[in-house]
Amino acid sequence: MDTVTTIDAVRSKVRAWRAAGLQVAFVPTMGNLHAGHISLLAAARDRGDRVVASVFVNPLQFGPSEDFTRYPRTPVEDERLLVEARCDLLFAPEVEEIYPAGGKQATLVSVRGLSEILCGQFRPGHFDGVATVVAKLFGIVAPDVAVFGEKDYQQLLVVRRMALDLSLPVEIVGAPTVRASDGLALSSRNRYLSAEERARAPLIYQTLRETASAIGAGNSDVRTLERDGLAALERAGMKPDYFSIRTAADLSEPDAAGTQLVVLTAVRMGRARLIDNLRARRREGAPEG
Ligand code: PAJ
Repeated sequence: MDTVTTIDAVRSKVRAWRAAGLQVAFVPTMGNLHAGHISLLAAARDRGDRVVASVFVNPLQFGPSEDFTRYPRTPVEDERLLVEARCDLLFAPEVEEIYPAGGKQATLVSVRGLSEILCGQFRPGHFDGVATVVAKLFGIVAPDVAVFGEKDYQQLLVVRRMALDLSLPVEIVGAPTVRASDGLALSSRNRYLSAEERARAPLIYQTLRETASAIGAGNSDVRTLERDGLAALERAGMKPDYFSIRTAADLSEPDAAGTQLVVLTAVRMGRARLIDNLRARRREGAPEG
């Protein structure tokens, strides 16, 4: 694996691969890699002849009171895991390489609507920061395929919509969420949990599962299911930002006919803010209520 820090170095590598007719698959990350990230690299391997990963903690997607400075950075371990995952090229730029104007981007990519709901409501500007850096990374790497985790479901849809709206020549692939054996979705932010909080955290996934199976069993009283989910998390001492049942394709409020749904939640627990989601399938013709 080559590790490079400049845009020019990425471009010249990828240009040579393209000239040789090779397909390039890309996995953008913020590092502190775990098995969830590595599963994306495996998916990228399946879809490309060459795999590029980026490790860049993107200041533009963090709010002023968020964890940008204390976000875990583990470059040596990341590089080791990427070599093991047979990554061909790691792009690990400094902030100045991506934001030469001192972080003052005049140009922002904003996926309106989708970016303002759910997590967007609680993290204003977050998805503009994500869409902007992903658009920049796509411009730098020029991949044929890019892989994103379903763990960040809203992010996946924001990126898909951005690529569609900007006619970017890249296929966006979603990969399933990797979980610990007790169900907690793997996340770099799990390390903010105390041992006691970590022991309670699997309730997030349990609650999503109960809600998804109630939907699957024919309960279509979305409001009550959302209220029950919120209450279950609150009873366990978590502070949920939202617990929401939405249409899987576009995160709109489900109508009576919709069958492909997704249950999404974000909870604050101690110093951590954790997100998770689970797809739910409503039986066709299920009665209201
Ligand atoms: P980061 O949180 O490092 O995640 C990088 C990728 O790994 C994302 O596509 C995310 O959905 C995926 N991922 C994280 N945990 C996962 C899990 N448990 N199972 C499967 N996939 C998982 O998401 C970002 O970085 C940034 O917003 C980024 C897209 C890189 C833009 O800065």
